Amino acid sequence: MIQLIRGFKDVLPGESELWQHIEQTAAALFTDFGFKEIRIPIMERTELFARSIGEDTDIVEKEMYTFPDRKGDLITLRPEATASICRSYIQHKLYAADPVKKYFTIGPMFRRERPQKGRYRQFYQLDAEVFGSASPYVDAQLIYMLKILFHRLGVTDIMAHINSLGCPECRPDFRDALLAYITGKEAELCADCRRRKDKNPLRVLDCKVPACREAMAAAPSILDHLCDACHVHFETVKTALENLQTPFTIDKRLVRGLDYYTRTTFEMQTGSLGAQSAVAGGGRYDGLVKLLGGPEIPATGFAIGFDRLAEIVAQAGETYVVDPDLYVAALGEAALPLAFAWIAKLSEAGIRAEMDFEGRSLKSQMKRADRLRAGHVLIVGDDEIKKKTAILRNMMSKAQDEVPFEGLLETLGARLGKKE
Ligand code: HAM
Repeated sequence: MIQLIRGFKDVLPGESELWQHIEQTAAALFTDFGFKEIRIPIMERTELFARSIGEDTDIVEKEMYTFPDRKGDLITLRPEATASICRSYIQHKLYAADPVKKYFTIGPMFRRERPQKGRYRQFYQLDAEVFGSASPYVDAQLIYMLKILFHRLGVTDIMAHINSLGCPECRPDFRDALLAYITGKEAELCADCRRRKDKNPLRVLDCKVPACREAMAAAPSILDHLCDACHVHFETVKTALENLQTPFTIDKRLVRGLDYYTRTTFEMQTGSLGAQSAVAGGGRYDGLVKLLGGPEIPATGFAIGFDRLAEIVAQAGETYVVDPDLYVAALGEAALPLAFAWIAKLSEAGIRAEMDFEGRSLKSQMKRADRLRAGHVLIVGDDEIKKKTAILRNMMSKAQDEVPFEGLLETLGARLGKKE
């Protein structure tokens, strides 16, 4: 038997309804906040991700699915959506008339990480990006929108962790301070951190290896090194969040695993998922559009880990599966074409109707209706055809009555139709 690839998974019916519910809730909310959907390819030139995410990040160094296509061009299955959305924004000059654009997208991402609960090699993200504004209010608005989405989905164990990574003005100063702190501690660090510390000492702050965390416990805080403009920016994000009654904690070690961030960075963290506590992550990336060959346009955004969010929402135990409204039990040769026409018309009218075409006994059809959790069963056999009435049985109350063939579809429509 051929099995799926390790770290990949199927979303089966039973779970897919919950996924649809999350997608619809998010799309409706994002649309109300002025976001428009953008659909981007799942493969891009490798260079796009290497340049934007950063050559010496875990993602680019070890996790990308990269391969030469038949002509030898290096192609990568996207590990995230931000780079592609920027590429699209620049390529189609979407900034031309009005640089302020808000986009969202939902789709699969690919990272060859070590699979575990909440961590997959193909996972889904719900991604939102805002271009064209450097305002701290936009960062706060994104965090607020996330909070509202989680609340609408019944997720309460969630906290916004925020930090600022400064800008090209002040980050070099912090980088020097951090490097000075690390110097002399190399022996305590993991091999990756030792190798990367000179190029990108911020990575060491982000390392999850316990020894590195311990060695970095007393590291300097970037928040003590922000320039005036970045300091005011961060303070405004905090005040704006307070104004919107959005709780947050300041997390000076939150540097995130991608190199494009400037100023505000944030994660939505939960205690409901074990080791994988980040349900969403994002931040400002004011330099990326320029870095990828576009004009100097600031931007900010986030991505929600869809699989993780779905796992938390599923913990509430609510079902989103829809059961048939009606099962038509057709008994005998003559009933089959009647039932066949009825279920087609009923389904068309939005009444979920099922039957089977195998001509089984009433007992086995009733069993199947039960298994499908149909709300009602309509029984039609030779006797009913003679009398031109079918029997309608309510599977919950077990009450049954007769429904004349004349006007049958209208009667069923009125009795079983959706009451909204
Ligand atoms: P990220 O933090 O790499 O950010 O990913 C965002 C979220 O995707 C994570 O918080 C997590 O919930 C989920 N995620 C990441 N890797 C996996 C995995 N292997 N399995 C399951 N879920 C995963 C970004 O991707 C940025 N592009 C976010 C962003 C948008 N920043 C600005 N705009």
